[in-house]
Amino acid sequence: MFVVRVVNKKLFLSNGPSCSLSSFKSSLSWWSGVEMGPPDAILGVTEAFKKDTSDKKMNLSVGAYRDDDGKPFILPCVMKAEEILSKKNLDKEYAGIAGVADFCQAAAKLAFGDSSPVIKEGLNATVQGISGTGSLTIGAHFLAQFFPGVKEIYMPTPTWGNHIPIFKRAGLTVKQYRYFDPKTCGFDFTGALQDLAKIPEKSIILLHACAHNPTGVDPKPEQWKEMSKVIKARNLFPFLDMAYQGFATGDIDRDAFALRMLVEDGHQVATAQSFAKNMGLYGERTGAFSVVCADKDEVARTMSQLKIIIRPIYSNPPIHGARIASTILNDPSLRSQWLTDIKVMSDRINTMRIKLKEGLKREGSSRSWDHITDQIGMFCFTGMTPDQVERLIKEFSVYLTKDGRISVAGVSSKNVDYLAHAIHQVTK
Ligand code: LMR
Repeated sequence: MFVVRVVNKKLFLSNGPSCSLSSFKSSLSWWSGVEMGPPDAILGVTEAFKKDTSDKKMNLSVGAYRDDDGKPFILPCVMKAEEILSKKNLDKEYAGIAGVADFCQAAAKLAFGDSSPVIKEGLNATVQGISGTGSLTIGAHFLAQFFPGVKEIYMPTPTWGNHIPIFKRAGLTVKQYRYFDPKTCGFDFTGALQDLAKIPEKSIILLHACAHNPTGVDPKPEQWKEMSKVIKARNLFPFLDMAYQGFATGDIDRDAFALRMLVEDGHQVATAQSFAKNMGLYGERTGAFSVVCADKDEVARTMSQLKIIIRPIYSNPPIHGARIASTILNDPSLRSQWLTDIKVMSDRINTMRIKLKEGLKREGSSRSWDHITDQIGMFCFTGMTPDQVERLIKEFSVYLTKDGRISVAGVSSKNVDYLAHAIHQVTK
């Protein structure tokens, strides 16, 4: 039997998939039309880092916490939770489509707060997601299918690189509002308010709940309040990406301010949570998506549709990370250990910010580097140009994303002076 294939507008006759591997010619391959894609703007940098043989190399691209020896950090509360879990001899059966139920409820409580009417009245439809990206994706598909307003989502400029494809692929139109002011390396409050006021009514707005990625620039509480008013006036639907609860200030409640304030202001929000950073569960892919509903019947209908969205994508989520997070959140002593662990991480990051700024001054930099300590969370949006970034990589083996973002969580007291030196060399 012959198979006719069209490759690069040419016709080919072949004897189909039965031919042997060695007889494959690239011109006859099914995939000869597949073009090389660019490496991922964030994760692709790590691939280049791994190939670098310099003993001074630093990977400040991906947002992953390192201890002061530059090593990945397993939180003490996570180790204890794993011990508890291993003694329980739990089975490895499938979770339900919506995930581990104890985890989902604990995650929602963490985000909204125990005393929130959302929790008390059971108005949250919450499902487990594959960390932040997967939880955002479930939300994006849900909105694309069911949001009754304009199928447009407005994102801050800049935003996390993955936000755009996640929502576009789900079928929403992605638009932007002003957020970062390159002149001050701070929040463009006026620009943001002006842009929000022009968003078509009944559209979706994406907000970073805390520790904005990539800029490390968050609105102040009073600025959030003003934004909430405009969001209300335009009748916008707020979707909060909450990937860093606890990482911005070291306090899980302070970092939930924006979400809880919006709920108090009467916004019916959605949120995607990740436990990658605040519990260090990166590879466990533990997250949750919640949407606030008007009543329990709406919750039940929403849950049914979320499950229908999830089932054909990955059937049901992995259980191990969710069990760890649930154990930590539901056990008072582990929970308090966790709060200490978060504080340890966020304090270390803040110390590195101070040391980096001091180091740049010592190097003789005449620039203002105040934004290094003004910005919060894992990242510092340094304001370096793509050319300067390229020099940092090529001449100093300091790897970061092209937009000038560095993961301060990857800096240690052993290499912070080298980093200050390198940054000064390319910015002087
Ligand atoms: C980052 O921004 O570096 C992290 O959120 C990791 C990722 O998946 O991009």
